[in-house]
Amino acid sequence: MLTEKDFIATSYNSLEAANFEWSAPSNIALVKYWGKKEQESSIAGEKSEQIPANPSISFTLNHCKTITKLGVMKKLDSKDFTFELLFEGKPKEDFKPKIQKFFERIEVYCPFLKEYHFIIDTQNTFPHSSGIASSASGMAALAVNIMSLEKALNPTLSDDYFYAKASFLARLGSGSACRSIKGEVVVWGHHAEIAGSSDLFGVAFSEIHENFKNFQDTILLVDKGEKQVSSTLGHNLMHNHPFAEQRFAQAHENLSKIKEVLTSGDIAEFIKIVESEALTLHAMMMTSMPYFILMKPNTLAIINTLWKFRSENNIPVCFTLDAGANVHVLYPESTKEKVLQFIQNELVDYCQNGQYICDQIGTGAKSN
Ligand code: DP6
Repeated sequence: MLTEKDFIATSYNSLEAANFEWSAPSNIALVKYWGKKEQESSIAGEKSEQIPANPSISFTLNHCKTITKLGVMKKLDSKDFTFELLFEGKPKEDFKPKIQKFFERIEVYCPFLKEYHFIIDTQNTFPHSSGIASSASGMAALAVNIMSLEKALNPTLSDDYFYAKASFLARLGSGSACRSIKGEVVVWGHHAEIAGSSDLFGVAFSEIHENFKNFQDTILLVDKGEKQVSSTLGHNLMHNHPFAEQRFAQAHENLSKIKEVLTSGDIAEFIKIVESEALTLHAMMMTSMPYFILMKPNTLAIINTLWKFRSENNIPVCFTLDAGANVHVLYPESTKEKVLQFIQNELVDYCQNGQYICDQIGTGAKSN
């Protein structure tokens, strides 16, 4: 079992300059990560950061991606991190503090970072400020680029180590980002029944029934504004939350159940778990102190319209939510035509400017 110590790069060469490019997708959790815990690190005197309070599982998306180029140049002075950040080709100062913090967190594992100047040139395939979290795909894309640099400095790294460490680093940027590296379905967080599962990085879950092959996710953009409460703040409100312990226990149980369901192909049971997880996530927000609501009236209108459509037509379509007002509509590929027609006829009016994004399960980060 890999521990934090195993992720410290100890032997590496040097290089003058290099360029890398990776794309990494967004992901949508089926069993949600909401809450972090503190624990001792395997590195003496250190605390582990970004450890999930419960395990989670997600579908990797295909079209919603961040594409990041990393230009690397050797510097003379290795006192500080130095980097330039371009978003869609233009300098973007407001993203820099997050990257600076990321570098600080991962420095112990990648001690070579201060020896290089970086040009990070990044763009998303989904519309800017669509309310779709770009932190998962963004941090994943940056983490794999940094692993390409590490691999250039130490070509002996195995592929398994490369991807495990990419996920490990991505987690330190944004927890859910560790589920955007490899695999169609990814588990993050230790779970008794999932061999190899770890709090430190995501692992691919591969026993998937063909009912879930090319599973569709149409993202209805209900509210494209900035969120009033960031996920990081929301996670913190799970400390001293009155229902925290029950919630974390429930997530373990739901992961046991969904593992069976993904293997057996039982879509009716899948729907129950996924919708309950989405509503529980928002129930945690509504019952924290301070409390908050991220759903909008149109979020509820969509849920009710979807439930009516499902019961009247007997089509196995369901919804999930992330930490915002947008609705992810999940359905098997075999129902695609009917569900897209339903979305066009009955749900588009609830979307801001009629916007939605058609996506489906994908396989993870790609080197371009
Ligand atoms: C509701 O990964 O965005 O989407 O680790 O603080 O960066 P940080 O939070 P983040 O939280 C995502 C929460 C969620 C559920 C999920 O993706 O599992």
